[in-house]
Amino acid sequence: MLVSAKDMLNKAKAGHYAVGQFNINNLEWTKAVLLTAQENNSPVILGVSEGAGKYMGGYKTIVGMVNGMLEELKITVPVALHLDHGSYDHCYKCIDAGFSSVMFDGSHYPIEENVEKTKELVKVCNEKGLSLEAEVGSIGGEEDGVIGMGECADPQECKAIADLGVTMLAAGIGNIHGKYPENWAGLSFETLDAIQKLTKDMPLVLHGGTGIPADMIKKAITLGVAKINVNTECQLAFAAATRKYIEEGKDLQGKGFDPRKVLAPGFEAIKATVKEKMELFGSVGQA
Ligand code: 13P
Repeated sequence: MLVSAKDMLNKAKAGHYAVGQFNINNLEWTKAVLLTAQENNSPVILGVSEGAGKYMGGYKTIVGMVNGMLEELKITVPVALHLDHGSYDHCYKCIDAGFSSVMFDGSHYPIEENVEKTKELVKVCNEKGLSLEAEVGSIGGEEDGVIGMGECADPQECKAIADLGVTMLAAGIGNIHGKYPENWAGLSFETLDAIQKLTKDMPLVLHGGTGIPADMIKKAITLGVAKINVNTECQLAFAAATRKYIEEGKDLQGKGFDPRKVLAPGFEAIKATVKEKMELFGSVGQA
């Protein structure tokens, strides 16, 4: 059964580790993440962007697929199904479809409007037992065609949103989605420290997990990060493994064209990436 991300993240924050959110794109992706979580006895969050939701045939399709896998693959570790960077409307669509967690990304609104809309969603999510992630300070990089420049969130604004009773808070600290440019300045630990001092027990979320060096990830966890989002890294691993299979001409040998064979190396590559991240984040054995 899907669970809200609340307990797993509060436990992670208190235990000084982080739970990974891995974005899913199809059946293979979903199965790879769920099986890896089970094999490593780790809690996990499946992230679904609005674009991925549309691609996979709608939110209800995803809920059906994930619930089916939890039962048939005998997944017993805590799993949350979470809308990533949701608009106000899509939060409601996911709540209705049976997601167990949503992110309302109101970071592009003036803070007053972000507060107003987040407040309404806190009420709805509390009534229905879902976890809610809010965002302050936009995360840079490209996500579903929207390019944002990484910025550092205002710690006072973070406190204002945290005080509304959200479950977890994403705050920009110089992180961006996708690959980091050569001249990236790194994470602003000063900002993170200031945010955690004001928001105290609130689990903080680090977006743009791809390409952040291991030492920065570890330091961010010591400063209150309890959820780390990874998307691009699984995509790169999947693409590289699939490219290798095709370039080696394996699809031309015997029944190598069978989609189950074509997609197998990419599936294994996602599993390896997810395992590596779970080890780095410290969530292995914490289910
Ligand atoms: P990356 O694609 O950089 O790993 O970021 C993922 C993310 O933050 C999803 O919200």
